[in-house]
Amino acid sequence: MNAIVEGGIKAAPSAGRIRAEDKMIINGTADVNQLVPFKYKWAWEKYLAGNANHWMPQEVNMAADIALWKNPQGLTDDERRIVMRNLGFFSTADSLAANNIVLGTYRHITAPECRQYLLRQAYDEGIHTHSYQYIVESLGMDEGEVFNMYREVESIRQKDEFLLPFIDVLTNPTFKTGTPENDQKLLRSLIVFACIMEGMFFYVGFVQILAMGRQNKMTGAAEQFQYIMRDESLHLNFGVDMANQIKLENPHLWTPEFKEELSGLFRKAADLESAYADDTMPRGVLGLNASMFKEYMRFIANRRCQQIGLDVLFPGANNPFPWMAEMIDLKKEKNFFETRVTEYQTGGALSWD
Ligand SMILES: [Fe+2]
Ligand SMILES: [Fe+2]
Repeated sequence: MNAIVEGGIKAAPSAGRIRAEDKMIINGTADVNQLVPFKYKWAWEKYLAGNANHWMPQEVNMAADIALWKNPQGLTDDERRIVMRNLGFFSTADSLAANNIVLGTYRHITAPECRQYLLRQAYDEGIHTHSYQYIVESLGMDEGEVFNMYREVESIRQKDEFLLPFIDVLTNPTFKTGTPENDQKLLRSLIVFACIMEGMFFYVGFVQILAMGRQNKMTGAAEQFQYIMRDESLHLNFGVDMANQIKLENPHLWTPEFKEELSGLFRKAADLESAYADDTMPRGVLGLNASMFKEYMRFIANRRCQQIGLDVLFPGANNPFPWMAEMIDLKKEKNFFETRVTEYQTGGALSWD
């Protein structure tokens, strides 16, 4: 006796034993309470890797950041703007991410090993919000200013307004998968969340804060952003794997019209993130300038499109920040700014992108 999972929980005491081959990422009929037998080992491996990456904000020493921030000559106005605006953007973005997972994505996914990863991912997003709160509090910033930026700063509001309709689809209590139209809605939202939100909208901020750390400024904040980037890289890769598996299991969803629509979203996202770069950095600073970010967004958009199986949008775009690749590829035994052990376990096979 199998039935489509209703409301995300279906115990089927009278059903036969579960076979791995009966599992599906969406619209599955196998009991979601049984983790094993595994079908999607990549999801379980990412869950283990996520745990191996565990970190807590208050483990990071903020003394040097506090001294620099409180010294009137410590940072230029342009550098302070970069720190403030990125805290403003990220503090809300990670809350949106957590709510999207807990109130949206989780109940529509019927593979228990994917749900297991989503539980870890939701906790990661909580830690990220904790991290921004810890930085804001340590530096004695105006928390009202930072946490309201998503309402009050145009370049941040534009990014959030782009994302909200895709989050609303999944968190709407009446939304259910099971028709081609709704399954496409789910897939579209998953791709926007992983590839655009976690895979594009975070990257100007990552570059800016990590560039400060490379110049020995705000190293505590930069260290935390480094861990956040490591987590987000895993989130992105999990989302890509899940979307590609949904495509494999439901090839009828991947129509030319759907692909065309997704390409348009990636194009729009690259523009929004370039506008965010202009706003956070109206003048060249830290050896960075707005045109480098425009090129970087084209490069990143191409990479995300390739990961999801779309044609590249900006042929020939280059990476103006090769040191980001180096930082992303860095072995996790040491962090970039200090030499503290950052893994809670050894042997986690971490995949970065
Ligand atoms: Fe996050
Ligand atoms: Fe994330």
